[in-house]
Amino acid sequence: MKFKNSKVVIVGAGNVGSTTAYSIINQGLCEEIVLIDVNKEKAYGEALDMQHAIHFMNRNITIHAGDYEECKDADIVIITASAPMPKDSNNRLEMLKPSIQIMKSIVSSVMVSGFSGIFIVVSNPVDIMTYLVWKFSGLPAKQVIGSGTALDTARLCCSLASMYDLDSKSVHTFILGEHGDSEMVAWSSSTIGGKSLTDVMSDNADRTKNETKETLLEQTKAAGWEIFSRKGNTCYGIAASTTAIVKSILFNENRILPVSVLVEGLYGIDRVYLSVPTILNSSGAKETVEIRLLPEEKEELIQSAKVLSSFYEELK
Ligand code: LAC
Repeated sequence: MKFKNSKVVIVGAGNVGSTTAYSIINQGLCEEIVLIDVNKEKAYGEALDMQHAIHFMNRNITIHAGDYEECKDADIVIITASAPMPKDSNNRLEMLKPSIQIMKSIVSSVMVSGFSGIFIVVSNPVDIMTYLVWKFSGLPAKQVIGSGTALDTARLCCSLASMYDLDSKSVHTFILGEHGDSEMVAWSSSTIGGKSLTDVMSDNADRTKNETKETLLEQTKAAGWEIFSRKGNTCYGIAASTTAIVKSILFNENRILPVSVLVEGLYGIDRVYLSVPTILNSSGAKETVEIRLLPEEKEELIQSAKVLSSFYEELK
């Protein structure tokens, strides 16, 4: 008897798509990866380069360039393709208009194959793109997930861990809302070693120095641009956070990550894709966790939802 191969298709073999493939093969998460790109030669070259890398890895994954019919039996389709970021832009929302048609054509090609698995959307502006993929695909919302603020949350954990000389995995916090300027931190539920972050910050004033919650959030929001302005893209962080989402799904982990999901009736938000802590397993976004936010935090999250849903009219 042969078990079904676990298969991940990645649409877009640019920096983000290729680095995500590399991260997945490095962790040996599935049996097969297919790279799809409008530039078939690029997809072929990336796949061939990675085939040779697999010789030195723990699992003999098959990786090759392919076409949309390959999505038929895929467990996960990751979409990283998008319109290029306008020059000198520092707002992910500016990629929206040129990306709508691209997304429509990708999703229709994936769905024509008979795909019934889980979409992970990485293309920016990710919350709106994920909403579009949900609309265009007709799949249940739990099968359409955006990479969201998993990366922003990691960035904040890294800043706090470096301030207090800790492992970033010992910092427990969530960035919620848009993967972008209106995102917010659930500060009141953030902890380090079981101690509230507010207490950690005030009890360790020598290490906290002049940092405040406001400066920490601003640095987190700026982190993507700090990288983008120097190297023209970001790829490792987003690839690693997407890989964590892939692993939670393929390994049926029930891990909680902040990802972009359809929020319906929680936090006073209705039918908007944005990031909230979500239990991820083989069914996709199994369940969202409703954190008890302070009234002012809830208001910030509602404002972020309004920023995102204000674009929904334009998408029609
Ligand atoms: C970033 C991109 C993925 O924040 O938006 O690195």
